[in-house]
Amino acid sequence: MSIPAEVATAVKAAAPKAPAAPVDEITLIANKWKNKRGSLIMALHDLQSRVGYVPRESAMKLGHLMDVPLARIYEVVTFYNYFKLEAPGKYVISVCLGTACHIKGSAELLSGMEKELNIKEGQSTPDKEYHLQAVRCLGCCGLAPLVSVNGKVYAKLKTNESHHVIERIQIDKPMAVADAEDLAD
Ligand code: FES
Repeated sequence: MSIPAEVATAVKAAAPKAPAAPVDEITLIANKWKNKRGSLIMALHDLQSRVGYVPRESAMKLGHLMDVPLARIYEVVTFYNYFKLEAPGKYVISVCLGTACHIKGSAELLSGMEKELNIKEGQSTPDKEYHLQAVRCLGCCGLAPLVSVNGKVYAKLKTNESHHVIERIQIDKPMAVADAEDLAD
C-alpha cells in the first residue's frame, strides 16, 4: 500500500534534521580572508599559525576555496622565508600571545613550555618531537589563555599549567598510534 503524498510530506517535515557538518579550519580561514586585501598572505599566515606549516592538502583546499591557483600559493610560500612546507616537529605547540591571552598570562605559559621542553620559542626538540611557537590571536579569545597543539585547543589554562599540556600530549600519543593502526587495518 502506498503512503498518501500529504502523509509522506508531514512525516518528512517532522523527521529530525541531520546535524550540520562541522566547519573545518581551512573553510574558516578561507571565509575569514577571502574578500580582504592581501588576503592570501594573511590566510597562509593564519594556516601556519594553527598547524605550524603549510601542508600541501591544506594549500590545495585553501586555493580552491579562495579561488587562487595552487601555483600562486607556492609562489608566495616559497618567496617568504617565514613559511614552512614541512612540519617543524611532530607536535607543533602554539602558544597564543594575542592581547586577550597575554592579559591572562600566556607569556608565563610560554616560558613554562620552554623550561619543560628545554628549548626556546621558535625551536624544535633535537628529536623533532616538539616544536614550540608563539602565535597571535587564534580567534577564540573567549577561551584565553590558550595553547593549540596540531590544531587541538587547550583552553582557559592556568599560567602554571604548561606541564599539563605536555602530559596530555603524552597521554594522547598511544591513542593516536592506535587510531592510525585501526585505519591501516
Ligand atoms: S588573543 Fe589568544 S585567541 Fe585571541
